[in-house]
Amino acid sequence: FFCLQFFVGGNWKCNGTKDSIKKLVGELNSATLENDVDVVVAPPFVYIDQVKNSLVDRIEISSQNSWIGKGGAFTGEISAEQLVDIGCKWVILGHSERRHIIGEDDQFIGKKAAYALSQNLKIIACIGEKLDEREAGKTFDVCFQQLKGFADHVSSWANVVIAYEPVWAIGTGKVATPEQAQEVHAAVRDWLKKNVSAEVASETRIIYGGSVNGSNCMDLAKKEDIDGFLVGGASLKGPEFAIIVNSVT
Ligand code: G3P
Repeated sequence: FFCLQFFVGGNWKCNGTKDSIKKLVGELNSATLENDVDVVVAPPFVYIDQVKNSLVDRIEISSQNSWIGKGGAFTGEISAEQLVDIGCKWVILGHSERRHIIGEDDQFIGKKAAYALSQNLKIIACIGEKLDEREAGKTFDVCFQQLKGFADHVSSWANVVIAYEPVWAIGTGKVATPEQAQEVHAAVRDWLKKNVSAEVASETRIIYGGSVNGSNCMDLAKKEDIDGFLVGGASLKGPEFAIIVNSVT
């Protein structure tokens, strides 16, 4: 079994002020982070520049969204080119909050993914079922459908990390068990093998998100197909985020 480089992302969502972010960056700058882990944080757009200018280079910066194409007359949007210009290396796409609150669909998200990749942003491609879908036994169907939305538009997977985030586990304190997460991660890898290639299946990191914290991360990290985490609430606390980053050891 070939171990992929662990990846931990902090999705700050729509949280923070200049002051709270200054404090969080200070905590991250002084944290001891395991060397062999890719660490990325995703501040709200308006604070990206502040974070870029104050955070250690060892931690890369992601945005939480990007526009579907080249910039121009798209009021309120932020283009991939602009994100690259201010030092972003990553973008989170297909997050359930954008799917279910804002109404982004699979194909729209897939096109955003292709455009972001074409501009040399790496992407964190999110998928995940809602509670009623899980209870109806549709977890795999939903995840595969959302994956297909990415696969329909993405031609190279080298710069893609897949984040499995069951919607019922996001912000609820109700984390998936390591077995529940592993089951879906293995199914996602198998889907990639059958629908993309064996190489992409074995080389693409599949990370878990949904109520990950400093105490449940260790058991999740031990699972074979869990290659890291996408952390929401707990990423707003520097010391706890560092514990999660270091959970791979
Ligand atoms: O993108 C991360 C996220 O949706 C998980 O949020 O607060 O449950 O860790 P949280």
